Amino acid sequence: MNRIKIFDTTLRDGEQSPGCNMNLKEKIEMARQLEQLGVDVIEAGFAIASPMDFRSVQSIAEMVTGCTVASLARCTKGDIDAAWEAVKCAKHPRIHVFLATSDIHMEYKLKMTREQVVSTISEMVAYARSLCADVEFSAEDASRSDPPFLAECYSAAIASGATVINVPDTVGYSTPEEMSGLITFLRQHVPGIEGAEISVHCHDDLGMAVSNSLACVRAGATQVECTVNGIGERAGNASLEEIVMALKTRKDFYQAETAVCTGQIYRSSKLLSSITGVPIPPSKAIVGANAFAHESGIHQHGVIANARTYEIMNSTDVGIPQNTMVLGKHSGKHALREKLSSMGYSLSDGELDEVFARFKALADKKKVITGSDLEALTLNRIHLNTAGCQLVSHVVNAGYGVPNTSCIKLRRSGKEMEEVAIGSGPLDASFKAINRMLGLNIKLDSFSLNAVTDGEDAIGEAVVKLASGDGIVYTGTGLSTDIIESSIRAYLNGVNKLMEAAAPAAERS
Ligand code: KIV
Ligand code: ZN
Repeated sequence: MNRIKIFDTTLRDGEQSPGCNMNLKEKIEMARQLEQLGVDVIEAGFAIASPMDFRSVQSIAEMVTGCTVASLARCTKGDIDAAWEAVKCAKHPRIHVFLATSDIHMEYKLKMTREQVVSTISEMVAYARSLCADVEFSAEDASRSDPPFLAECYSAAIASGATVINVPDTVGYSTPEEMSGLITFLRQHVPGIEGAEISVHCHDDLGMAVSNSLACVRAGATQVECTVNGIGERAGNASLEEIVMALKTRKDFYQAETAVCTGQIYRSSKLLSSITGVPIPPSKAIVGANAFAHESGIHQHGVIANARTYEIMNSTDVGIPQNTMVLGKHSGKHALREKLSSMGYSLSDGELDEVFARFKALADKKKVITGSDLEALTLNRIHLNTAGCQLVSHVVNAGYGVPNTSCIKLRRSGKEMEEVAIGSGPLDASFKAINRMLGLNIKLDSFSLNAVTDGEDAIGEAVVKLASGDGIVYTGTGLSTDIIESSIRAYLNGVNKLMEAAAPAAERS
């Protein structure tokens, strides 16, 4: 069996997808989950991009011990210094440098000749290597580069000390045959390649990122770069869960395995979706709501007779909890801890107290608390912002043919404040009241509301995307069995994140 390393770039390339930006607390929470998932490398960010990016890479490097922590850097000393400063405290640090090697990128973007590109790679990889023992070099747009020149670039990188060479299909243009041919070519034409890790990084513009990555594994790649739920620049990156489960389920074919703990896949996917507010499509392979559902009678009959007739994997292999009735209003903290731990969540005492208080409040309104309810409460915990504005009360008067009004009372730093507004509907009125009270001028980019479970007393989860003047979109989520309350909570949650990001650094920490 070949051991394939999983390089997760959810927090770097993944965060580049529109609407997927995360704050420091969310990135740390996600990194902790990726460590539990058992990935080999976490690319924590692009340290030079902003002080916030630097801080999050550094915080993740300080916290994570079970895997390598990498920061991206362009081929400049400034970028490499920032990357090293951010990751040097990691148990296993890596600097990931990149430079484009395709003719179109060199001519129009870099305005560099081939000779300049090769010498920059040699110089900057050597510089990174003088700081860090683990250096990855990526030839951006490798799949559209001239293969002999690409081989020259990787040879220069390896001669200068690169431990990993990465072959990106940056624009998602290649086919599986082309990608596997390229890996074979490089293995034959790059001196020293046998001593280096061969990585692939495929984008999904033509829907072939996973197939391309797997074809490269067949051709000898030893590391695959991917993201949870396949998020990433444009159409996204290769999806981690699909790569890992394809290698596991078709071990006979790929003769390869990863160290990923597949029972953590579903939780990782849900956590990311909760943080970004980007829903998982129902038909998404491995983690979609329908991925293990059998609708047709013929299929159901087959599965009852022998599950293997139509099932190639078990939902429990990826950690999907059985959604049975679990707890009620008389259940205690111990039962809650047991149930959460059987679902794979291990919370600290403080976190459990928080979830228990919300569980009790929910049990007063809802007779039966299911696994999905508990999952929603547990995931929503990461959005709670005790330092920002808290909702004290709301009174909404809504109807057809009458003015819709909302009176919102908030508490901030111990002080209560109240505002009333009229709007085109109850939510418009509520959001206007909050904006007016806090002196905000923000745009509601999108709003969605979904039932977490079935039934008339289901929890409604609202997700808002708020755009502020800085061009960043902030995601807020709110939960309640009352959909107006969950919407107001979601809006306030987004507002709190936005105000926190705008606050001076001293106030934030
Ligand atoms: O897609 C790409 O080429 C990248 C590199 C920086 C690895 O993300
Ligand atoms: Zn990429």
